[in-house]
Amino acid sequence: MAKFLVQSSGPLNGEVLISGAKNAVLPLMAAAILPEENCTISDVPDLQDVTVMTEILTSLGAVIEKPAPHVLDIDMSDLRTNVAEYELVRKMRASFLVMGPLLARTGSAKVHMPGGCTIGARPIDLHLKGFKALGAEIIFKNDVSVEAIAPPEGLKGATVYLDFPSVGATENIMMAAVLAKGSTYIENAAEEPEIVDLANFLNKMGAKVKGAGTDTIKIDGVEKLHGAEHTVIPDRIEAGTYMLAAAITRGEILLRNVLPDHIKPITAKLRECGVTVELGDEGLYVVADRRELTSTDIKTLPYPGFPTDIQSPFMALLTTVTGSSTVIETVFENRFMHVAELNRMGANIKIEGNKAIVQGGKKLEGAQVIATDLRAGAALAIAGLVAEGTTEISQTYHIERGYDSFIEKMRGLGANILKIRD
Ligand code: UD1
Repeated sequence: MAKFLVQSSGPLNGEVLISGAKNAVLPLMAAAILPEENCTISDVPDLQDVTVMTEILTSLGAVIEKPAPHVLDIDMSDLRTNVAEYELVRKMRASFLVMGPLLARTGSAKVHMPGGCTIGARPIDLHLKGFKALGAEIIFKNDVSVEAIAPPEGLKGATVYLDFPSVGATENIMMAAVLAKGSTYIENAAEEPEIVDLANFLNKMGAKVKGAGTDTIKIDGVEKLHGAEHTVIPDRIEAGTYMLAAAITRGEILLRNVLPDHIKPITAKLRECGVTVELGDEGLYVVADRRELTSTDIKTLPYPGFPTDIQSPFMALLTTVTGSSTVIETVFENRFMHVAELNRMGANIKIEGNKAIVQGGKKLEGAQVIATDLRAGAALAIAGLVAEGTTEISQTYHIERGYDSFIEKMRGLGANILKIRD
């Protein structure tokens, strides 16, 4: 098993190119199931999760080629099966996103129960509520797999109200509805930029999706979709992670390939701490040059609120600033697993329900810690940059699931980080 060794690194400096968004590319790849023609996706990040989605699509019959770095050609003309097998699905929760497009294209789909990060119960009830509203029958086999079967006359447009604006459910229902008869309305839909990216890709295929990025999405079903080309939006969570790496080391970096609108809540909170974030001709400058930073409070919320995926890296920063901060997690019920690990490094964080109270101004010390999930891993790596001694992070496959060239990009900014094998 690989481990990361991180050592105190001094202020980070230099520039970093942000990759295409993990959370956008996975639904885009799933959407390539819909047309019987080739789709080309560009700026695809080099990630373990993309490899898993590639394997899942290949198992369904896709022919996938990589004509150039970060470009995928996905040809689904020969869809062989509508069953996504356990061995692949268990590796990643987002694999459940193949269910909507499979159901739309073939009239039925069977997907084994998804795996992924252990950051809460993460049910799929809202996805299924949407499929049901469109007329599908849902059949569970123990807790192992779920099957959705459209009626003989096909799926029919409907109004679906989401009890929570789930990102995955919004995407899955959108993909199921594009080939349904009539109009579908998703109410209380997720508004994340990744939803807009998926809607844009679907529309390029000939779909009629309106309102993505607002809380009501209207999908007018069409008969057939055709192949399309699309470039993935930049990864706002990866951008936020490097912004925090710069801030915690009191460094100064330039981020290229960032959409400032997508990272507004992160920018706002960093500014409250005293970090300068400015858009220039070349990209986004993040400047914390050896200055004293102060505390701030954070509450995670669906977009455009503060992203839950940046909660743990931001908490790492808050352990080092002057004053005490409160972090409230409202999206996932079990997303404080990094707290015990940060405390092992000398942080002083107390948990009360879904609230963490961070006493700042701590001098962190290197320790052996575990990347309990993807973003927790990033938080520990960032904390390691300012900890005295060596921080040894295990279970780093979580980090590599979601960050393209993490070690290389960090080292490019001057971070003292290495990957070793046991
Ligand atoms: C996506 C992101 C993940 C991010 C999360 C929230 C991808 C591949 N992953 O995950 O990085 O942290 O959005 O921004 O895009 N829920 C239900 N029933 C459902 C579905 C979800 O109750 O059927 C609940 C979940 O338990 C959770 C909340 O809704 O508490 C948010 O989950 P959701 O938005 O669905 O997250 P994901 O799509 O899994």
